[in-house]
Amino acid sequence: MKIDLSGNVILVTGAAGGIGAPIVRHLAECGATVAIHYNQKAEGAKRLAVEVGNDSKPFHADLSQPKNGAALFHDVVRTYGRFDVLVNNSGVYLRSPNEESIDEWLVKWDKTIAINLGAAGVLSREAVNYFKQHKGGRIIHIASRAAFRGDYEDYFAYAASKGGMVALSRTIARTYGKHNVKSFVVAPGFVRTPIVDEYIREHGDGSIMGELALNELTKPEDVAPTVVFLASGLMDHATGCAIDINAASYVR
Ligand SMILES: NC(=O)c1ccc[n+]([C@@H]2O[C@H](COP(=O)([O-])OP(=O)(O)OC[C@H]3O[C@@H](n4cnc5c(N)ncnc54)[C@H](OP(=O)(O)O)[C@@H]3O)[C@@H](O)[C@H]2O)c1
Repeated sequence: MKIDLSGNVILVTGAAGGIGAPIVRHLAECGATVAIHYNQKAEGAKRLAVEVGNDSKPFHADLSQPKNGAALFHDVVRTYGRFDVLVNNSGVYLRSPNEESIDEWLVKWDKTIAINLGAAGVLSREAVNYFKQHKGGRIIHIASRAAFRGDYEDYFAYAASKGGMVALSRTIARTYGKHNVKSFVVAPGFVRTPIVDEYIREHGDGSIMGELALNELTKPEDVAPTVVFLASGLMDHATGCAIDINAASYVR
């Protein structure tokens, strides 16, 4: 079996570090041209674009304003003249204890929902409208184990945003399939990236390792191959599915 993504233009959001960067590397290794979205990591995104080649380029957007997702999408289409796969990967994991004031709590709730779900919704909307007018395409949503299992007590917004993402993906799969649009969820458990720094600092590795069936914490590189496989078209008849990558810390 050979995966050849040459000629495909793939937008990966939050692509300059964490789980996003290995996704970019693996997609590019298979020949894809990757639109490497970033918010703050401008240098990282530029370096990654040079490293992976295939005319991959960095694209900036602050997705805490979900509408910026539409401008990002059209920027990519203008640049390359085609669009094949969207990977909704940008996300934040903001601790928000329920003892905080309602104003503090709502700031984090709104930011989490805006970036994790609002921007993913806007980008998906632009993508399905484009795919409908063209030959179809694929959307891969990086959700979380939290969407299915629920999350820890201080992370209501995160779990809600990822649950929303699953519902979004399933709706796209069910309603746009006849337009040749496929939509998938990848649901990681704990992965060692900056997003979980605060949680690990507070609780230590031990509490996380205690949840896993395997002997090592999942690495960002462990998520990327599934994304490539879904992007390739080899999994199209699994549209609407959610694939768990959580070291059996939650088996459903
Ligand atoms: N690590 C885990 O344990 C875990 C588990 C399950 C699911 N996930 C999901 O995996 C995805 C990637 O997370 P990660 O673990 O790789 O963490 P990460 O390294 O912190 O990556 C998060 C990405 O989101 C982007 N981002 C944050 N705020 C943004 C904003 N306002 N506008 C646009 N982009 C923004 C960041 O871009 P810049 O750095 O350029 O600002 C960054 O690249 C997230 O959706 C996360 O929820 C992670």
